[in-house]
Amino acid sequence: MDASSASMLWTLIIILAAAAAASSVHPPQQQSYGVGCIAVERAALLSFKEGVMADPLRLLDSWQGAGDCCRWNGVGCSNRTGHVVKLDLRNTLYWDDQRQVRLDNPHAMRGQVSTSLLALRRLKYLYLSGNNLGGPGIAIPSFLGSLESLVYLNLSCIDFFGEVPTQLGNLSRLSYLDVGSMYYSGQIFSSNLSWLGCLSSLKYLDMSGVNLSMVSDWAHVVNMLPNLRVLNLELCQLTRSNPPLLHSNLTVLEKLVLSSNNFYGPPTLKNLCNLQEVFTGTNLSGDITEQMERLPKCAWDKLQALNLDATNMTGNLLVWLGNLTNLKDLSVLGNQLSGPVPLGLGALTS
Ligand SMILES: *[C@@H]1O[C@H](CO)[C@@H](O)[C@H](O)[C@H]1NC(C)=O
Ligand SMILES: *[C@@H]1O[C@H](CO)[C@@H](O)[C@H](O)[C@H]1NC(C)=O
Ligand SMILES: *[C@@H]1O[C@H](CO)[C@@H](O)[C@H](O)[C@H]1NC(C)=O
Ligand SMILES: *[C@@H]1O[C@H](CO)[C@@H](O)[C@H](O)[C@H]1NC(C)=O
Ligand SMILES: *[C@@H]1O[C@H](CO)[C@@H](O)[C@H](O)[C@H]1NC(C)=O
Ligand SMILES: *[C@@H]1O[C@H](CO)[C@@H](O)[C@H](O)[C@H]1NC(C)=O
Ligand SMILES: *[C@@H]1O[C@H](CO)[C@@H](O)[C@H](O)[C@H]1NC(C)=O
Ligand SMILES: *[C@@H]1O[C@H](CO)[C@@H](O)[C@H](O)[C@H]1NC(C)=O
Ligand SMILES: *[C@@H]1O[C@H](CO)[C@@H](O)[C@H](O)[C@H]1NC(C)=O
Repeated sequence: MDASSASMLWTLIIILAAAAAASSVHPPQQQSYGVGCIAVERAALLSFKEGVMADPLRLLDSWQGAGDCCRWNGVGCSNRTGHVVKLDLRNTLYWDDQRQVRLDNPHAMRGQVSTSLLALRRLKYLYLSGNNLGGPGIAIPSFLGSLESLVYLNLSCIDFFGEVPTQLGNLSRLSYLDVGSMYYSGQIFSSNLSWLGCLSSLKYLDMSGVNLSMVSDWAHVVNMLPNLRVLNLELCQLTRSNPPLLHSNLTVLEKLVLSSNNFYGPPTLKNLCNLQEVFTGTNLSGDITEQMERLPKCAWDKLQALNLDATNMTGNLLVWLGNLTNLKDLSVLGNQLSGPVPLGLGALTS
């Protein structure tokens, strides 16, 4: 070997050594430049796709081959670790011309939610709303309760049946849970909500349309969720047998929706000082002034929307209305109110 080829060899050895050192010190950086996703996670996504029988919006067209699954439609990966952290396959095209949901939605993905998702151990955000991933006899999959990294779970407007799995109570990091199914109302139910009490990070809970008629202690359970900002229990078959009393812990609650439930007598909403939007249950009956007295006084100047439609109340809109200084939206349709339009209305500049 002559001197120049020896020095070239040394140069090559030094370059290779430097490259090896660089890649061992900074392996995650390679992934952030799109070298590829994690192989078992790619396989899991391809298995999920196998469970999908129809995909009219072609959301999964890019899901194929051995490429970088982090670039597939709807898939989001961590820049740092390369793990899949987000799956967004929602279908928002579920309205017809009358803003009624299409129960036989031509845009919905059809199929089943594959257990292969369990391989996505770092998944934080899962959006599947508006797709037909249920069907007769198919419940919300209980294995979702094992996706322990989930922060956001949106299963709204999916044609599931049966009981909401209590295993969701294991998702201790969950901040947003939406299983609202107004358009499949009564198809899913819960007979015991105690698992909700385990979700102490929860900020947003939508169970609208879920049959909760057998849950006697719903108010007690939601009271265990001190971070709750939005609570939607519209059309949940709640009745008087459930204590309709929201008291104390929900101090940061901003939006409360209890419409289309048959309460006789009203919820008393003490301590809910941050309320901005209130939609009450139907058939509260009684005098509207008494109802207003039950709204937390500490929230009067924050309230922006108040809906008392079809609550079967009597009496007249009295001076208290002028105290709701930030009110933008007031609806009192379908009541038996009497008397003059209150002078207080003039003070409502919003
Ligand atoms: C990840 O990288 C993409 C593209 O370079 C960038 O747009 C995004 O903000 C990054 N995300 C985070 C959390 O750093
Ligand atoms: C869940 O998805 C539906 C439909 O896309 C949307 O209206 C709703 O706001 C979402 N829920 C949350 C908590 O983001
Ligand atoms: C959480 O998971 C464990 C085992 O995986 C199970 O035994 C327990 O019932 C689950 N908790 C809830 C609230 O579902
Ligand atoms: C709700 O559940 C109760 C108890 O199982 C049942 O009697 C009732 O018919 C259900 N309501 C609807 C609308 O499915
Ligand atoms: C609800 O479930 C919890 C946990 O499984 C149990 O301890 C509690 O007694 C149940 N509540 C009712 C009203 O059945
Ligand atoms: C308030 O929440 C805590 C747990 O977060 C619970 O122990 C307590 O019983 C709740 N208070 C009421 C009045 O429900
Ligand atoms: C509304 O409540 C009253 C009692 O205040 C009751 O007599 C009536 O039957 C209820 N109406 C409906 C539709 O449930
Ligand atoms: C309205 O309330 C009265 C009692 O105040 C009750 O007799 C009537 O049935 C209620 N109407 C409806 C539609 O609930
Ligand atoms: C309502 O407004 C009146 C006068 O505008 C005031 O005297 C009264 O204290 C207010 N009530 C509350 C609860 O803020």
